Amino acid sequence: MQHLIRTSDFTKEEILHVFDEAREFKRTKNSKVLEGKIIITLFFENSTRTRSSFEIAAKRLGAEVVNLDVGTSSQKKGETMYDTVSNINAMQPDAIIIRHSECGLPESLIGYVDCPIINAGDGRHSHPTQAFLDLFTIYEYFEGQTDGKKIAIVGDVRNSRVAGSNRRLLPRFGIDVNLVAPDCFKYEGDEYKQFDTISEIIDDMDIVMSLRSQLERHNITYFESLQEYARDFCITTDLMERKEFLLLHPGPVNRNIDINDDVLKHPRCQVLEQVTNGVAIRAAILKKLILNY
Ligand code: CP
Repeated sequence: MQHLIRTSDFTKEEILHVFDEAREFKRTKNSKVLEGKIIITLFFENSTRTRSSFEIAAKRLGAEVVNLDVGTSSQKKGETMYDTVSNINAMQPDAIIIRHSECGLPESLIGYVDCPIINAGDGRHSHPTQAFLDLFTIYEYFEGQTDGKKIAIVGDVRNSRVAGSNRRLLPRFGIDVNLVAPDCFKYEGDEYKQFDTISEIIDDMDIVMSLRSQLERHNITYFESLQEYARDFCITTDLMERKEFLLLHPGPVNRNIDINDDVLKHPRCQVLEQVTNGVAIRAAILKKLILNY
């Protein structure tokens, strides 16, 4: 049995196979390969894209989905996370998808279950399915030619789990990772190239990934306001015209702070394609983990 906690849980060969399956899913959409399977989602943090796309993917594959309403679960009566998950596991689901603010929580649950656990985001640590769908979007855009491409990941790289997963995954596919952030959001480590402004590297970039400031994870007083942050880090029409790059964002986009309104309609801004790909990638991951191949 295989779990998905971090992107390194899948070999490069497995990831490329997931991409093949995702491509096939986008072509055919509905199949019944997971008929009779039951998937449960436990989201202890809010979600628009991840939870819905897992649910749509599962349903298109014929599985049923139970979304535990964590707000009304017995954790409100003092039940521990480990008891919640042990009890869910005793109902014999075929996969458990979990999002939580605590880094490492999904991994710590592995010993309590008899089915695959999928990490749908743990604090500022990892968001492996997002990174896979981001890489898939890049892979499709550049027709598989990722080797030597350069990406600028812009914004709150310190607190973003999307940045955390991508900066580990993308180099495995030959993509050169550059982090761009103000001092308060800089990654604490020296294994990546870090820059203060987009302007100083944009002319070399093939891809820009803009990030939302993770205000729920910190209380930054470095800026007077997000508008002040936006003056230096918002992706503008001028930047789009200066260099031909693919623009990504994991969502939710903070409009006119992360990316200008007008830029969101630009053909090289593939934010909604990422969302479409998210369903396909999650379908492929569910199929792989539940059918165990
Ligand atoms: N990208 C992402 O994880 O979006 P949600 O928080 O809406 O799931």
